[in-house]
Amino acid sequence: MSKFMEWVDARFPATKMWEEHLSKYYAPKNFNFFYFFGSLALLVLVNQIITGIWLTMSYTPSAEEAFASVEYIMRDVDYGWIIRLLHSTGASAFFIVVYMHMFRGLLYGSYQKPRELVWLFGMLIYLALMAEAFMGYLLPWGQMSYWGAQVIISLFGAIPVIGADLTQWIRGDYLISGITLNRFFALHVVALPIVVLGLVVLHILALHEVGSNNPEGVDIKKKKDANGIPLDGIPFHPYYTVKDIVGVVVFLFVFCAIVFFFPEMGGYFLEKPNFEVANAFKTPAHIAPVWYFTPFYAILRAVPDKLMGVVAMGAAIAILFVLPWLDRSPVKSIRHKGWLSKIWMWVFALSFVILGYYGSQAPSDLGTIMSRTCTILYFAFFLLMPFYTRMEKTKPVPDRVTC
Ligand code: HEM
Repeated sequence: MSKFMEWVDARFPATKMWEEHLSKYYAPKNFNFFYFFGSLALLVLVNQIITGIWLTMSYTPSAEEAFASVEYIMRDVDYGWIIRLLHSTGASAFFIVVYMHMFRGLLYGSYQKPRELVWLFGMLIYLALMAEAFMGYLLPWGQMSYWGAQVIISLFGAIPVIGADLTQWIRGDYLISGITLNRFFALHVVALPIVVLGLVVLHILALHEVGSNNPEGVDIKKKKDANGIPLDGIPFHPYYTVKDIVGVVVFLFVFCAIVFFFPEMGGYFLEKPNFEVANAFKTPAHIAPVWYFTPFYAILRAVPDKLMGVVAMGAAIAILFVLPWLDRSPVKSIRHKGWLSKIWMWVFALSFVILGYYGSQAPSDLGTIMSRTCTILYFAFFLLMPFYTRMEKTKPVPDRVTC
């Protein structure tokens, strides 16, 4: 084996990469529950790619056959039902995992200097993931696939001057048709997965260049032993590879329980109107996007003007890109920030969940009031951040990792 590795290493940096990114990558020794979600995101990504490839073998991307080909996969293809449910549940699992992963970044200030690029690559992944999910949702060609895409694509029509031409260009037709389905299929199975994979590589390379943050926000590179190894660091392999297996096992229990027993998740993972084939002449009574888009959909609906609603929805995502420059706190972790940051963090998290709830419901007076209030709070969290993070009194950050 060692002779073989010598031969490989003389031609390809296999051992060098293994050491740099795993066996000699020193990660802080105090990673907690929230640090499971990076490796879980990788796991779900692999699940989506593998099940996606197998689905593509039996799926037909045409307006006439798409819906029936999904039924064929569910009923006739060997193990087709499990492959499809792993993929549809995987889409929701991806967003649960990524939202937890992003929230960890918020809690521990992992976007702060020197990890701005880790965050920016993460945000680009998030954008690509939203595009990937949106296009994938058209493929089963059910009622919600059709009308959900209709609502979202028509939003581009609100853009002055170019709006009408732009929507036609995106659809490739005067209405959503087989042409739209075909291009969404190409982007969903080829283009966007390549983009996501490339961005994940950049994301991890950027992280390993500066090193991982931790729940205390202590810079472990400040205290090293005589060999230059951080005193509070442990090699990622075997310590965290083994620890991550615990997260993987727990995750798979929950994931499999959903796949086998509640794949529709009460209409949240697979929406009920999508069991009916797309019909351009029959609009469903209530059109709502899948749950992971509903916070932004609620922001869109909270603004009375269509164009301003689109702008607000775009701004709600765009503002996350500049987060590293909004936080002026001298400390990273919420554990050492002042009470203003703590209160705002709660306000933000609750607003996001409430927006998500009302975005999934039919419009109502209470929903409008709540969505408007939560939209204001959502933006206030970010826009006031430069002020409250500078004003408040912070706790001293310990020199070493103690908990
Ligand atoms: C396909 C999606 C993604 C994958 C596979 C992924 C993977 C990873 C992995 C393996 C790590 C190192 C382990 C860990 O710290 O948990 C990491 C760290 C990180 N990721 Fe992601 N990530 C994804 C999306 C995102 C997104 C959307 C964001 C935020 C916009 C983000 C922000 C971060 C940050 C800030 C860190 C450093 C955390 C720290 O050191 O405390 N990631 N990511």
